[in-house]
Amino acid sequence: IDELLADGVAGKRVFVRADLNVPLKEGVITDDGRIRAVQPTIAKLAEAGARVVVASHLGRPKGTGTEPDFSLAPAAKRLGELLGAEVAFATDTVGSSAKETVAALADGQVAVIENLRFNAGETSKDEAERVAFARELAELADLYVGDGFGAVHRKHASVFDLPKLLPHAAGYLIATEVGVLKKLTAEVKRPYVVVLGGAKVSDKLAVIDELLGKADRILIGGGMAYTFLYAKGYEVGISLLQKDQVDTVKEYMARAEKNGVELVVPVDILASADFPDIKGGTPADFETVDADKIPADKEGLDIGPRTRELYASKIADAETVFWNGPVGVFEHPDYANGTRAIAQALVDSRAFTVVGGGDSAAAVRILGFDENAFGHISTGGGASLEYLEGKTLPGLAALEG
Ligand code: 3PG
Repeated sequence: IDELLADGVAGKRVFVRADLNVPLKEGVITDDGRIRAVQPTIAKLAEAGARVVVASHLGRPKGTGTEPDFSLAPAAKRLGELLGAEVAFATDTVGSSAKETVAALADGQVAVIENLRFNAGETSKDEAERVAFARELAELADLYVGDGFGAVHRKHASVFDLPKLLPHAAGYLIATEVGVLKKLTAEVKRPYVVVLGGAKVSDKLAVIDELLGKADRILIGGGMAYTFLYAKGYEVGISLLQKDQVDTVKEYMARAEKNGVELVVPVDILASADFPDIKGGTPADFETVDADKIPADKEGLDIGPRTRELYASKIADAETVFWNGPVGVFEHPDYANGTRAIAQALVDSRAFTVVGGGDSAAAVRILGFDENAFGHISTGGGASLEYLEGKTLPGLAALEG
């Protein structure tokens, strides 16, 4: 982006592909981290006199037109508040509203266009459909800045095809994110400890596969832990279980032992017969049980106190920590202690700490931790995992081309 700025962007229409996919509860943004993260790029372009056209997806709408629940309007409003400036909003992506809104921009002004995924061309697997949509988007701009790190693993029109049609550059957020993740691949300082949580083990298989050759310790939590416990031969009651992944998990456990990687699973669990009432906040009815004694009619919803201590001790002497995924149903206060303990262990350690993933990043902020106490909070969930897997990310490749 510095080269674009040096060439001069005044009076130019600059398309900024951001990731404004923020969590919303009844139209209210519950965590604006992703908007704040892209703000420096937008502010810098506006300061330099560009006419900034910000675009993003939000959620996973059907692609058949406007769906009010998935509108980017709240994100546009928040961006305006953060910038301290009026931000125009187009109620479509490439239709008359977008064209008129962009045409009306003065130098230094910012507009947000509506959710890109309201147009099926954005996510289409058919290249011709994607390119057709990208061509329409290209008409809105003279230059392209890619800064939606959270979406760079998606081969979508605005991420992959559009940069090929316009002079392009990476924004500040992408440059920072890639710089940090590079440290976790090439020059990692040891002990390198990885904490993996989240619901599904299937989402994390590729990264575990890769980390078994890189990390010194892998601590497992969240819904995916039960597939590991089951693979150890434990009964897991009605906990989340991906039976089709058990053999893969067994193979990973064997490989970890062979490679000298500590693969650590919970030793105790908070188990309940009911999934908690997250919205109502009714106190949960749970018991603390050993990980091999989860009752048949109960499911595990958080790691227990002994596991919290064990994991904190495994993090204490680390030089590098990467954490992706909450280790319990942190949205309910009775099941937030595991995730809180992991966040606290990261804060207390002298390691370079990276929190990756929309959910864990939001958890850290929702639980009241100071973002600055962490080395880096990534705006990318899937994107940071795929980067660590060593995959080529379409949105980064397109910017390099
Ligand atoms: C994310 O939240 O990880 C990104 O915004 C990408 O969203 P997606 O998984 O719906 O493509």
